[in-house]
Amino acid sequence: MTGFQRQHGELHAESVPLSHVAAQYGTPAYVYSKAAITAAYQRFASAFAQRPHQICYAVKANSNIALLSHLAGLGAGFDIVSGGELQRVLKAGGDPQQVIFSGVGKEDWELDMALKANIACFNMESASELARIQRLAKAQGRPAPVAVRVNPDIDPGTHPYIATGRSDNKFGMPPPEARELLAEAAASPHTQVVGIGCHLGSQILSAAPYLQALEQLLALAEDLAKSGIPLKHLDLGGGMAIPYQDEPPFDLPALASAVSQALGARSETLILEPGRALVAEAGLLLTRVNTLKQNGSHHFAVVDAAMNDLLRPALYQAWQPVQPVLADGTKAKDKSKAKAKAKEATYDLVGPICESGDFLAKARRLRLAEGDLLAIMSAGAYGFAMSSNYNTRPRPPEILVDGAATHLIRRRETLDDLLSLEALPSGS
Ligand code: LLP
Repeated sequence: MTGFQRQHGELHAESVPLSHVAAQYGTPAYVYSKAAITAAYQRFASAFAQRPHQICYAVKANSNIALLSHLAGLGAGFDIVSGGELQRVLKAGGDPQQVIFSGVGKEDWELDMALKANIACFNMESASELARIQRLAKAQGRPAPVAVRVNPDIDPGTHPYIATGRSDNKFGMPPPEARELLAEAAASPHTQVVGIGCHLGSQILSAAPYLQALEQLLALAEDLAKSGIPLKHLDLGGGMAIPYQDEPPFDLPALASAVSQALGARSETLILEPGRALVAEAGLLLTRVNTLKQNGSHHFAVVDAAMNDLLRPALYQAWQPVQPVLADGTKAKDKSKAKAKAKEATYDLVGPICESGDFLAKARRLRLAEGDLLAIMSAGAYGFAMSSNYNTRPRPPEILVDGAATHLIRRRETLDDLLSLEALPSGS
């Protein structure tokens, strides 16, 4: 269940026609299906139901507080990487005792804020981070729960920008150094060792890299146990892929059963940090064709969304599915005139931004007319979250659909919003 399906030729979000969403909220707009998020969460929860586990949603994938609140209601914990993300989780009603704090460059104010909020675990990535955590925990008069992010030097076979578990990446620590750091943390009154973990990268297609990493985590856990340092959790990170194009769907039950087998009767809680897999397919970017043009033999559909709204195609050459909101031949008020002039061609879908990297899709066979609505699918993760105001473009609204109801969960930015933070130098 993706939350989006066609009824009478028109693409719907749950039971709401997307042309109604466009009429009410304008375009471009991000549209999310609440039921699709629930279904994705339940897939994880039921795959890992056999053993003690905690699903800590990676907030960075989509940090809208309405989605966080929904996920908290489903029982999710959260993986955060900044003080800002912590603030969002708290505002959404997330339980701080189910929050883990990842990241390679945490600032003092962020560590302080997380200590005060009493989060479950700091995933440390360096000796200097341990020293800072200890100083701040001492000042606050309470020990900080810590884990180490291990860098297992595994190539997860994904885009190099989103591989994070190789030795040439900035993340984590090699197992021997992780072990030393945990021994130091265990010996201090200001830190309490609770776990170890890793995060290998994103859009990982198979279970194999996870199992290789788990082997290393288990060896380290054994080693620590021998030194009298028991662990409460093992964290395998996130990164489970979704099928954007023709990738096979990630086999979650296969991962769960292989992990369960490897863990046997161990009692540590298994933590997972999925981001994309919980929200990507639950979101789309709704956009309207502004201009059709042809340069030589090349056909362009200039739409009203751009790389500032959805950066993934420009940044990673990512392929996102594109669907016309109205199937060919579907009659709708919105469309009837334009459809007469519709032209079938192989289009590049581009935005109005002034660079050639501004594309949302390339070489898609579509029948289009100016004014048509298009849906860029699987845009719920790393879509709005990576948007910007480049070219002074207000960011789109976010709409959560729940059955027949639509909720505006973030309004469209205005030009006043954009300019309100700026000032002329005094005296000018
Ligand atoms: N945990 C940690 C520590 C992470 O750094 C990440 C993602 C996750 C969990 C969640 O990974 P996921 O399950 O979402 O793959 N902007 C890129 C993806 C960057 C992922 C960064 N880290 C994209 O649009 O493909």
